[in-house]
Amino acid sequence: MSSILTNSSAFAAAAAAAAAVTIVSKSTVCPDRDSSLGDLPLSVSDLPMLSCHYIQKGLFFPSPPMPIASLVSLLSSSLSRALSLFPALAGRLSTPPDGRILVSCNDAGVEFAYATADSLTLPDLLAPSSDVPPAVKSLFPLDGAISFHGHFRPLASFQLTELADGAVFLGAAVNHAVVDGTSFWNFFNAWAELCRGGSPSPPDFRRNYFGDSKAVLRFPGGRGPEVTFPVDAPLRERIFRFSQEAIFDLKSRANDGFVKVATIGDPDAEIYGKQVHDPKAVMAYKEEQISSFQSLCAHVWRSVTRARKQLPPEAMTTFRMAVNCRHRVEPQVAPNYFGNAIQSIPTTAAVREVVGRDLRWAAGLLHRNVASHGNETIRRGVAVWEAAPRCFPLGNPDGAGLTMGSSHRFPMYEGNDFGWGLPAAVRSGRANKFDGKMSAFPEREGGRSVELEVCLAPETMEALLRDDEFMSYVAE
Ligand SMILES: *[C@@H]1O[C@H](CO)[C@@H](O)[C@H](O)[C@H]1NC(C)=O
Repeated sequence: MSSILTNSSAFAAAAAAAAAVTIVSKSTVCPDRDSSLGDLPLSVSDLPMLSCHYIQKGLFFPSPPMPIASLVSLLSSSLSRALSLFPALAGRLSTPPDGRILVSCNDAGVEFAYATADSLTLPDLLAPSSDVPPAVKSLFPLDGAISFHGHFRPLASFQLTELADGAVFLGAAVNHAVVDGTSFWNFFNAWAELCRGGSPSPPDFRRNYFGDSKAVLRFPGGRGPEVTFPVDAPLRERIFRFSQEAIFDLKSRANDGFVKVATIGDPDAEIYGKQVHDPKAVMAYKEEQISSFQSLCAHVWRSVTRARKQLPPEAMTTFRMAVNCRHRVEPQVAPNYFGNAIQSIPTTAAVREVVGRDLRWAAGLLHRNVASHGNETIRRGVAVWEAAPRCFPLGNPDGAGLTMGSSHRFPMYEGNDFGWGLPAAVRSGRANKFDGKMSAFPEREGGRSVELEVCLAPETMEALLRDDEFMSYVAE
């Protein structure tokens, strides 16, 4: 287990990491065809993200079987074609006098950089059982950019970094007021498919999420927002892997020991030990059941709250989950809807109860909250926002919060073969990270384990790593 870096040595490490990466070339890539999309107004789900950093996610690949110059040219020509399918990413934000904020699809282009890192190798950067090395952060472009800056900066920027062992990292920064995680990976998948010779279908650009809202989010004086959390607070970041078996075990505990409902039509489907032949009964039971992911979230909520030893028992703690609203609203929004269609679901309870009661209790709270977040709840949330438009208050001001972003269901591996195999790993940049921020990633092999990237205050991470109950579910 690695030792804890002191603050100043962490900064020194970050500075050394940045120095390890050299930008060799940088170009502007434009769509290979003119766009006819015009202006796309930001929606009620896009506007609150203007104070968030650009999304920074990227993929490590083993050494590609071609000279690096050919790779750079292949990636930028396929990027140009991908931008013709997704012209919104090649535009800029603009604010006409009426105060609405639009994506102007003006084909201004995105950035594509090629960099080298002669002192970094894939095994160093993916070392197991240690913190994520600070060097990973230097593999991303547009560090610190806030989505509002899309008025004058590209809405997307990419960096291909060649490591000393020939492995590469393809890092992306994409404006969070223009995409959510679903749209981000939809674009990445389309780029990969074009690169390997396929012809992906275009996304749905009807930004009709809740029709034509009249709400306007104003930024007086043209000054943009600041991020809503301290960006230089000390943080440790680690990736914890939970195997399918460990997650099943948590789910079983959360559901009071019984989770054997396989698939509808399965002759062995059982509910509480009884054979069931009615598919409706099986479906109803499955919906009632606390899911694997909710069970895992409850485990993390309890463990991190226990590790935050400074919290008094009567303090309140909140677990926030970002959810995709596309399939939750009625009528449904298309899966390839391009833009944000997300909301945050907060679940709040006293520290004493989260820590003192069992997993089943915390998991039940999360489950009931997520299960009830349907059409009505989503529209109520939108109405509340429209009555008082504001930026999304991302962060953890009371030190007792946890926020789960990203999703283990996103196609980060499957779908991202650029022509020479699946990515070796997915990693993220410094963007939108604070004490208590977590991101879920799927398993590379397409199984059901989940990787959680967890950012915590150093003393909390230290306590979590010493917590036997938490660690007993973590795969090495
Ligand atoms: C969804 O919610 C809206 C607003 O409350 C309502 O008008 C609409 O009928 C709902 N749709 C369905 C199918 O429940």
